[in-house]
Amino acid sequence: MNIATDISPTIDRVSSALQEWLATPRSMLINGDWVKAESGKNFTVYDPATEMPLASVAEGDSADIDIAVRAARHALEQGPWGRISPSERGRMIHRIGDLILENLEELAQLESLDNGKPFSVARAADVPLAADLFHYMSGWATKIEGKTIPISSLAAPGQYHTFTRSEPIGVVGQIIPWNFPLLMAAWKLGPALATGCTVVLKVAEETPLSALRLGELLLEADVPPGVVNIITGFGETAGAALAAHPDVNKIAFTGSTEVGRMIVQAASRDLKKVSLELGGKSPNIILGDADIESAIQGATDSIFFNQGQCCNAGSRLFVHESIFDQVVEGVSANAGKVRLGVGLDQDTDMGPLVSAVQHERVTEYLKSGAEEGARAITGGSAHGDRGYFVKPTVLVETNPSMKVVCEEIFGPVLVANPFKDEDAMLKEANNSIYGLAAGVWTSNIAKAHQISNQLKAGSVWINCYHVFDAAVPFGGYKQCGWGREMGQAVLSNYLETKAITARIS
Ligand code: NAI
Ligand code: MG
Repeated sequence: MNIATDISPTIDRVSSALQEWLATPRSMLINGDWVKAESGKNFTVYDPATEMPLASVAEGDSADIDIAVRAARHALEQGPWGRISPSERGRMIHRIGDLILENLEELAQLESLDNGKPFSVARAADVPLAADLFHYMSGWATKIEGKTIPISSLAAPGQYHTFTRSEPIGVVGQIIPWNFPLLMAAWKLGPALATGCTVVLKVAEETPLSALRLGELLLEADVPPGVVNIITGFGETAGAALAAHPDVNKIAFTGSTEVGRMIVQAASRDLKKVSLELGGKSPNIILGDADIESAIQGATDSIFFNQGQCCNAGSRLFVHESIFDQVVEGVSANAGKVRLGVGLDQDTDMGPLVSAVQHERVTEYLKSGAEEGARAITGGSAHGDRGYFVKPTVLVETNPSMKVVCEEIFGPVLVANPFKDEDAMLKEANNSIYGLAAGVWTSNIAKAHQISNQLKAGSVWINCYHVFDAAVPFGGYKQCGWGREMGQAVLSNYLETKAITARIS
C-alpha cells in the first residue's frame, strides 16, 4: 500500500510523533531486535471506523516463530534472565507499569485507532489497567515460594528434609485477541515475567499496534533480549506454529472456543501445558427488589461496554416480571442515546466493531434473531455505510433455543427475558455451555449471596458489573476454558512444582 496517500484520515487526530510511528512499517521484536519477517512479507492493519489502512506490519509465520522460540529458550537457559534476582525482576516489571502510565495518552490513542474503541475508554480503562497489572505482578516476583513438608513414609522422624521449589514452567507461547489488545498483552506478560518464564507473544492480526509499542517500552525497561518476543502475523500460520512448536513448554490462549479446541489438539502432541480463556454468554439477573435505576445502568454497561466485545458481557438479561417492562424500556432508552462514531472523537460513546469479519458475524446473528422471531426494541441492524458499526440492540420475545440466546454474539446485542419463578430462572441462567461471569441485582443481601453460590460462573458481580482488578482471579466454568487469569491464581499457570527430598540422618 502507499501509506502516505491511502492512510486513514483519523490519524490526523494523533500527535505527529505517533503519525510518524504509524507511517513506518513495523517490525517484530525478536531477541531484543526489531526484525522483518523471514518471508519479507508485511500485512496491512485497518482502521475499523473508516475501513482504511492505518499501518503496515511484518507478517510473521512459522519461520519467525521458530527463531523467536529459540531466542526465548536461549534467554531462559543461557541469558542474564536466570541470574537476575527476584527483587530486580520485580523492579523491572514495575518499571514497565510506570512506562505505560508515562505513555498513557499515546497508548490510548493507538488503541482507539487500531481497535475502534472510544479514546476515553482506552484512557480510563485499558491503559491504566494494563499498567496496574504490571505493578501488581511486580510484587509477586519476590513471593514465589515453596513449602517444607513433613513426610511419614519410610522415614523415622527427622530422617528426611522435603521441600518444594516453584520453578518457571519454561518457554511460554501466548496468543491473544483484539478486544483489549494492550490489556490482554499485560494479563499474559505480567505473570510470565513475575514467575521468571520467557515468552513468545503472538498478538491478534486485527490489532497488533499497541503491543509493538509496548515492546519498545519493554526494551526501555531493560528487559533482556529474548525474554519477550512479539510476533505479528495470522492465527492459522504464526499462531498455529506457536501452539504446535515442540520447544514451547506452555501455551496461554485467549480467544474463541473454536480455536481454543485447536490449541488443545496442537498441544496434545507433546502434552504441553495449556491455559485457555474463551467465550461466554453471561446471565445478568435483576430481582424485583433491585434499585431499578442502578440496575438499568448496570445492564446497559454490562452489554454495551467495548461495543459488546467482552467475553464476560452480560448478554442474557433476566428481569423479574414485575419490573421487566420498566427495565427493558430503560436499557433501550440508554441504547438509543449511544453516540456511535470514530473512537478518537470526543463525543463518541461507542466505536465500530473491530473488523469486517466481526461486523458480518454480528449482523448475521441479528438476522437470525429476527428470522427466529425475536423482536428488537431498539437497534437490530448495522449503522452507516462506512466503518464496522452496529447499533446497540435489545431483543425480547426470545426463547432458549434461539441462536441469539445460546451462542456468543460478541457484539452490542442484549437478549432480555422476564421471569417469575426464581428457581426456574436460575436453571435457565446456568443452561449454557459457558460459565464465565454473572450479575445479580437486588437489595436483599442474603438472597444475593444465595444466588451467587448457585451460579456456575467464575465471576459474580453483586449490584455491579465489569469490575476487574489485577488482584482478582478471572476465568470460567465449563467451556470457558482452563485456569484463571490475574490474581495469585494465575501464577500456577506459569510454575512447575519440584519436590526435593534430602536424607539428613
Ligand atoms: P480467534 O480465536 O480466531 O483469535 C484469537 C487469537 O487466536 C488471535 O491472535 C488469532 O490470530 C489466533 N488464532 C486464530 N486461529 C488460530 C490457530 N488455528 N492457531 C493458533 N492461534 C490462532 O478469534 P476471532 O476469530 O478473532 O473471533 C471469533 C470469535 O471468538 C468472536 O466473535 C468471539 O465470539 C470470540 N472471541 C473471544 C474472545 C475472548 O476474549 N474470550 C476474544 C476474541 C474473540
Ligand atoms: Mg478466528
